Amino acid sequence: MKYLFYILLFFFSSVLFAISPYSAKVDSLLNIMTLDEKIGQMNQYTGSFLATGPLSDDTTIVAQIIAGRVGSMLNIIGTKNTRMMQEIAMKSRLKIPLIFGLDVVHGYKTTFPIPLGEAASFDIGLAEKSARVAATEAASAGTHWTFAPMIDVSRDARWGRVMEGGGEDTWLTTQIAKAKVKGYQGTNLKDKNTIMACAKHFIAYGAPIAGKDYNTVDISLQTLHNVYLPPFKAAANSGIGSFMNSFNELNGIPCTGNQYILRDLLKGNWGFNGFVVSDWGSVAEMVQHGFVNDKEDAAQAALLAGCDMDMESRSYTQHLKKLVETGKVSATLIDDAVKRILIKKIELGLFDNPFAYCDEELEKRTLLSPENRLEAREVAKKSIVLLKNSDNVLPISKTLKSILLVGPLMKSKEDMLGFWACEKDIASAVTPYEAILKNLPQSKVNYAEGYSLIGNQLINLKETVRKAKQSEVIVVAIGERWNETGEAKSKGNIIVPAEQQMLVTELAKTGKPIILLVMGGRPLIFNEAAQSASVILVTWWLGSEAGNAIFDVLVGNYNPSGRLPMTFPKYMGQLPIYYNYNNTGRPEQKDVSYSSKYIDIDSQPAYPFGFGLSYSTFEYSDLKLNHYFAHTDQTTTVTITVKNTGKVSGNEIVQLYIRDLVASITRPVKELKGIEKVFLQPGESKTVSFQLSPEELGFWGNDLTYKVEEGVFEIMAGGNPNQLLKSWLTLKNE
Ligand code: GLC
Repeated sequence: MKYLFYILLFFFSSVLFAISPYSAKVDSLLNIMTLDEKIGQMNQYTGSFLATGPLSDDTTIVAQIIAGRVGSMLNIIGTKNTRMMQEIAMKSRLKIPLIFGLDVVHGYKTTFPIPLGEAASFDIGLAEKSARVAATEAASAGTHWTFAPMIDVSRDARWGRVMEGGGEDTWLTTQIAKAKVKGYQGTNLKDKNTIMACAKHFIAYGAPIAGKDYNTVDISLQTLHNVYLPPFKAAANSGIGSFMNSFNELNGIPCTGNQYILRDLLKGNWGFNGFVVSDWGSVAEMVQHGFVNDKEDAAQAALLAGCDMDMESRSYTQHLKKLVETGKVSATLIDDAVKRILIKKIELGLFDNPFAYCDEELEKRTLLSPENRLEAREVAKKSIVLLKNSDNVLPISKTLKSILLVGPLMKSKEDMLGFWACEKDIASAVTPYEAILKNLPQSKVNYAEGYSLIGNQLINLKETVRKAKQSEVIVVAIGERWNETGEAKSKGNIIVPAEQQMLVTELAKTGKPIILLVMGGRPLIFNEAAQSASVILVTWWLGSEAGNAIFDVLVGNYNPSGRLPMTFPKYMGQLPIYYNYNNTGRPEQKDVSYSSKYIDIDSQPAYPFGFGLSYSTFEYSDLKLNHYFAHTDQTTTVTITVKNTGKVSGNEIVQLYIRDLVASITRPVKELKGIEKVFLQPGESKTVSFQLSPEELGFWGNDLTYKVEEGVFEIMAGGNPNQLLKSWLTLKNE
């Protein structure tokens, strides 16, 4: 059996690498590399910039680089520092260049909205655009490789890393995955404005029990294939250069040492020819998992599984040589890993010129350029979601007499940028306070802190109420600080602090319209404040241009078009709550005791996935299919007409959903399968067309084969998930 494994591995590697034009070059390099130098390529250390894991006190890193024992560094920032480290690498015997990795997740220096916020734009073009800008800035600053996109689907708002991904929907996250690979990698990794991307975290990291970060994941293989794998498959098919395995175990086996997902599925079945890097220390963490006895066993398990580079655990550099020398691992596996890594370094042009990304002049004129800021403002304003606009309070007039801005988040630059803001430039972040003060010169702009940024203690409530009585409208910023959602930031309570909500309720008693800005990195619960507010805008953490984007929406420079990429729950007890659930045999019925519901709380969310309002109104009609009976291998064209029945122009997000009514395994009550953003003038109509391929109607069965089955499908479309037009499609096999 063991020999079969190596024969298959050799076969796959030779086929795969035969495709690479650099295979011969790498083979000749491998032939002169010592085992130490080969293992060195599989070894990655961090610099001191942004440690997101336990730091070692290793003072020998420079000596190790010169000895050819280090292949990559992460968190080395800027052209000066990357040049310095690369010069050290050039002192090594074979002068193999280092590859520099960094978490460029939503911008490098120009910060874009957090990925969950950007996903709310339901605009795949923006996802690519922001990655393109981020790649241009990162590459100009010496970075070769980003640990992004994070494409972990997650249905649990308690998990802090929901801020980093595309939300709860597989289809939307899959489109984002493809766009991000294109944005980061462009068409040629040798281009000096492209960087290698990394699909993370492989796999199902977004499904931890109880929403606790790093926690156990135990899901069925059909759920793994239907919900969590598709974005990664799309990234692999899009030519992404690397994958990062996740910290979590999957069904009892840590992903770092999981042969099924790394070697059999990713490298075997999917034919992925890039390389896999572990997450921070995750190789050694398999000891804590209780999967291996010690770091030597961890190194063996990770290598056998298909993890090619060890981030910061030192398991490979300390144990692989002995494992090879004692025959516990084959040198073939080492060669396979090193080939994968070297081919990517060649594709990045690092062998042509190890200092190609070290142009200080380019760095200076690229970072935070006016053009990049404009792009950030564009993405930010389209990421804002309007959840409520009673009496059309918004947009406000640019000549209103007075406005009161309340809450420290209104002025907090750092909190505009959110978590994973990379090489963030806090000083240059525009806050709502600054933008409104600057752009409403005819208005008296008052400010009241309202509550303390740290501790959420109410401040001077009487004074705040007095100011409110003197203002025409009141804008209150509530929610989370930048570091309340992100890695290791899971929460058992996502309810907005009572003090913040009480402040909103007190201000509403003045009878003045309250405009709520809900800031944060995840869905939040704010029922009381929502009740009191006339307007609710979800503004996430919008990045460097947050204030200007919020201003654009407040005054109607931009008619909001965002949609929720995650369900906003009404109660903690509902979590995890998501739109694409299975129906159960006793679907909830209000007056039926024995149906799937709670006896003490409402099962319905506060705001559903895909929901968002506009300053305009849109009407849908004529949902049509090009055929209503089709063969299972036929593509269906779905058309629907949308009309702007409001008084202002605006973008509308037309959404297409399906429901497979009867199948060999139960299927969700609704699945997003298409989005189309249309801009319409008042009174204008457009007919939007979607192509629904058999692939989109299929699913993975428990036997892990992909099936497109006969049967009836509901086809639904519209702009609001609660008001969709419906039609039916019947598929037959003959
Ligand atoms: C962190 C994260 C991962 C990141 C890596 C390097 O722990 O899990 O997403 O890319 O370490 O910073």
